[in-house]
Amino acid sequence: MCGIVGYIGNGSAQEVLLNGLERLEYRGYDSAGVYVVDAEGQQGHLFREEGRIAKLESEVDMNLEAHTGIGHTRWATHGEPSVRNAHPHQSTTGRFTLVHNGVIENYNEIKESILSGVTFHSDTDTEVAVNLIEHYALTDGLDAEAAFLKALNVIEGSYAFALIDSEEPGVVFAAKNKSPLLIGKGTDFNTIVSDAMASIDLTDQYVEIHDGEIVILTEENVTIKNLKGETVERDAYTAQLDASDLDKGTYPFYMIKEIDEQPAVLRRIIQEYQDEAGQLTVDQEILDAITASDRIYIIGAGTSMHAGLVGKNIIESLVGIPTEVHVASEFAYNIPVLSKNPFFIYLTQSGETADSRQVLVQTNKLGYKSLTITNVKGSTLSREADYTLLLNAGPEIAVASTKAYTGQIAVMAVLAEALRKDLGFEAKFDMKHELSIIANAIQVLIDEKDHVHALATDMFTDKRNAFYIGRGMDYEVSREAALKVKEISYIQAEGFAAGELKHGTISLIEDGTPVIGIITQANTAAHSRGNIEETRSRGAKTLVISMKGLDREGDDIVLPKVESLLSPLVSVIPTQLLAYYASLDRGLDVDKPRNLAKSVTVE
Ligand code: F6R
Repeated sequence: MCGIVGYIGNGSAQEVLLNGLERLEYRGYDSAGVYVVDAEGQQGHLFREEGRIAKLESEVDMNLEAHTGIGHTRWATHGEPSVRNAHPHQSTTGRFTLVHNGVIENYNEIKESILSGVTFHSDTDTEVAVNLIEHYALTDGLDAEAAFLKALNVIEGSYAFALIDSEEPGVVFAAKNKSPLLIGKGTDFNTIVSDAMASIDLTDQYVEIHDGEIVILTEENVTIKNLKGETVERDAYTAQLDASDLDKGTYPFYMIKEIDEQPAVLRRIIQEYQDEAGQLTVDQEILDAITASDRIYIIGAGTSMHAGLVGKNIIESLVGIPTEVHVASEFAYNIPVLSKNPFFIYLTQSGETADSRQVLVQTNKLGYKSLTITNVKGSTLSREADYTLLLNAGPEIAVASTKAYTGQIAVMAVLAEALRKDLGFEAKFDMKHELSIIANAIQVLIDEKDHVHALATDMFTDKRNAFYIGRGMDYEVSREAALKVKEISYIQAEGFAAGELKHGTISLIEDGTPVIGIITQANTAAHSRGNIEETRSRGAKTLVISMKGLDREGDDIVLPKVESLLSPLVSVIPTQLLAYYASLDRGLDVDKPRNLAKSVTVE
């Protein structure tokens, strides 16, 4: 949700900012802007555009010699996407320029009480913040740092800010509360970034900024202070990001690259979670904390929540610990009656999702133990939970999540297996072996892309709605499959429990309505097939995805046979491909669907 970049050094500010913003475009792409201070005249130059970074790039004067600047790519919260609402925002006199990721909750109060005389030119909360800073600088005669600090003590809500005072062009200021912010340290330069990805080409040394901290950057120095103005010391860490992971290579879109990476992700998870004897394992401390609890609560949003539904089945089946799955945004404000000793698992690719974090803040307050399963080391939810398990999936850049879903399920399978061993329960199957077989099965399915493309074209051309149906695990996958096709092709899709259709929803089926049925579970295969038939006889255009052994002649996609408890890892693959090709056929921007952003840091 919005990406920010700041730079101060001896390189070209425009180049660093634009490259960084491109890398952060997954965080929002409604509008973009940069502000740079030219080295000669110490004058500020502001460039803003509605839409993508590519559009901004064509507007920015690259001939200007500038070594200091800040930039922003926006996912609109307050105010429609437009140049007027694009960041950076400037104070009334033009002295202060600010970029912001987050939401200021008390901006209306500030506007009415402290800034009643100010004329605003945008609908954003950010313009209120930059004017508040200027207000304290002018009325209280404070320098930029003191005015910024004073404003931060008044502002409530979430923010990652980067600020330039035109009267101090050799300094860039930053501050953080609940929105991600890192400082990249280099020789003769420093950067401010929402994600290390943005400046990984320049440095792999990053300093985490914590909530309630302000940062003062010059070309050579980074000073961190708390909101009382006291200096805080913190070492840099080395970011484990490979710049080549961030490129699409020969792929047309990140989504298809990330779909293709899934066999490798699974193999990496097997590798990373092996002990010296080659047994799948996780830290004993995590196992002790879970086995001391009487119920697991899995919290997540969107695709991560869908992975949780599969994880629940695996955990309950292998170790019998009752497990509930909750939508984070619902749980946060409608907490159900909890068991005596709950244990919380937060599933989050980005580790930054505000809805999930809001729950974590509450469960931390209540003193409950928690584990974050995430793809991003050092992310907020990882830092704030007691334990972390990493997906090691490499950066997921396409907005539609694919490899994080399979990665999350695989890590939960490893966790369930480690718990099983720890509790001394008998093995129902060899988890490590089955996961390896699944990595190969996924590869087989990926190699059938052209076949799936033809099916997608046949099913979805000119269609406005679709149903994915299944029972049990196949229902869980249906929900993820429907989300995927909705978000990137804009076809209204529903993931439905196959047996439930006849209780109302089947009235929506008419001639040509696409119905995709998933059949991987022996105990429900016959009934699911019957339910698919019921839709076909009412005119639906059906597509059947079945698992070998349960397949029938004429099924459209036959999945290689794998352990049925882990079947979502393979049955989801054709549904990811169907969604991808539905979007591609419509000529849409697969990686950047409208209205969305990758990392949702507002509630
Ligand atoms: C859908 C998708 C989203 C995310 C959700 C949670 O393809 O990516 O539904 O799964 O926004 O994000 P994380 O996992 O980062 O917490």
